[in-house]
Amino acid sequence: ISAGIVIVAAGRGERAGSSKEGPKQYRLIGGKPVIVHTLENFMTWEATTEIVVVIHPDDEALFAKAFRHIISATPITTVHGGPTRQQSVLAGLRYLKDKQISHVLIHDAVRPFFDNALLDRIAATLGDGAQAVLPAIPVTDTLKRVDSAGTVLTTVSREHVYAAQTPQSFAFGTILDAHERAAASRRSDFTDDASIAEWAGIPVTIVEGTADNVKLTVKSDIAMADDKLSISSL
Ligand code: C5P
Repeated sequence: ISAGIVIVAAGRGERAGSSKEGPKQYRLIGGKPVIVHTLENFMTWEATTEIVVVIHPDDEALFAKAFRHIISATPITTVHGGPTRQQSVLAGLRYLKDKQISHVLIHDAVRPFFDNALLDRIAATLGDGAQAVLPAIPVTDTLKRVDSAGTVLTTVSREHVYAAQTPQSFAFGTILDAHERAAASRRSDFTDDASIAEWAGIPVTIVEGTADNVKLTVKSDIAMADDKLSISSL
């Protein structure tokens, strides 16, 4: 496969608290911005032909500063995102429209801890003809549904329940078309791309994700990620 990569990084990261370093994708872990770790993983993967990073218009300077860490033989371009993740992804997909790619991997900038083995599992499944591939791991916690006051209503069965990760990966024309149709239907609230494929009736195949491939969401996630990298480099 020849893969275009969309990295969405236009979120404000409000759940991680405000910081002078800006949104969490620009915080330093192991001495480098989160987004640089993410980019480097894709840059070292043989199927990557083109990378587009979707950034917030206010983050031009932050991205330029982060980008100083990067030496890439692969073309990396930035485009501006929108108010929702779905709109940011569509901006990236539209940029890739005229590129020579068969597939696209859509990834959250704030997931720096995936490896090439995961990318290879995804590519193998796409190569076998899957239109949509989702890395996911079985949920191990016991799940509770609660009311708005925080009182438990029921325990939700975790049988056959998986936690969705990224990069979510697709035949390029198929997902671009589904995204365009979702936008034309005035939907802008899909929180991942597999759910747009589901909405469009495209079968989504699961591949095994990795426990490490977490989304850095709250402030303590950044500190934990930094510790993890410092420990592994000892
Ligand atoms: O907000 P959430 O945790 O779902 O964000 C996941 C990813 O989507 C993050 O990398 C974030 O920067 C990105 N995002 C975006 N545009 C938005 C909202 C989120 O690119 N409007």
